[in-house]
Amino acid sequence: MSFSRSIKIAPSILSADFANFGAECQAIEAQGADWVHVDVMDGHFVPNITFGPATCAAIRPHIKGVMDVHLMIAPVDPYIDAFARAGADVITAHLESGAHIHRTLQAIRATGKKAGLAINPGTGLDAVPHLLDLCDLVCVMTVNPGFGGQKFIATTLDKIGALRAMIGDRPVHIEVDGGVTVEIAPLVAAAGADVLVAGSAVFSGGSVANPGVYGTNIARIRAAAEAA
Ligand code: DX5
Ligand code: ZN
Repeated sequence: MSFSRSIKIAPSILSADFANFGAECQAIEAQGADWVHVDVMDGHFVPNITFGPATCAAIRPHIKGVMDVHLMIAPVDPYIDAFARAGADVITAHLESGAHIHRTLQAIRATGKKAGLAINPGTGLDAVPHLLDLCDLVCVMTVNPGFGGQKFIATTLDKIGALRAMIGDRPVHIEVDGGVTVEIAPLVAAAGADVLVAGSAVFSGGSVANPGVYGTNIARIRAAAEAA
């Protein structure tokens, strides 16, 4: 996984057919996805429940590229090794998930995986300078986590810009997650994001039987971001 600030589109399989994850992952990669974004929810840190490490391990052989695992769980530390063994390339934990996010990022790095720090819309960047040396990615949540298909929260644009300035020339990705559409993509890219997660905007209208729609959706989001 070499570092580049070029635009990467990361479809979230939260919007895929849950009965067909393997084929869905293959379809989005064949249609131009750069990363596959995997949303893990526990019904405690967020109000929704998705799946855990066993499902991640099951879909791993169907993903050729980067498996980007977003943990919306608390506590997170007891499960890091399981997600690393499941084959995640990036493991992202929330700043809000506990009192010891610094230790959590250390633990992710200790598995040899890339470490991500996710920040909710209501949380500021105050702690970020103290954590940046442990981060390979910072994920700016542009909706409140828990569900796909929510509306982008525009006040996060200033946060993305401030984060971009903090990061400078460090090899740290800025990921945006939630409500990213063709219309929003140029705004977040101009603010400094390089990894664009998109669930509903990629999967809507398509299926594994009709995957060309995924390709069209991905290409339109990418073109809009790159034009910014
Ligand atoms: C929100 C998840 C996101 C989100 C993306 O809790 O982390 O990955 O579902 O879906 P859309 O693009 O539909 O907002
Ligand atoms: Zn996510």
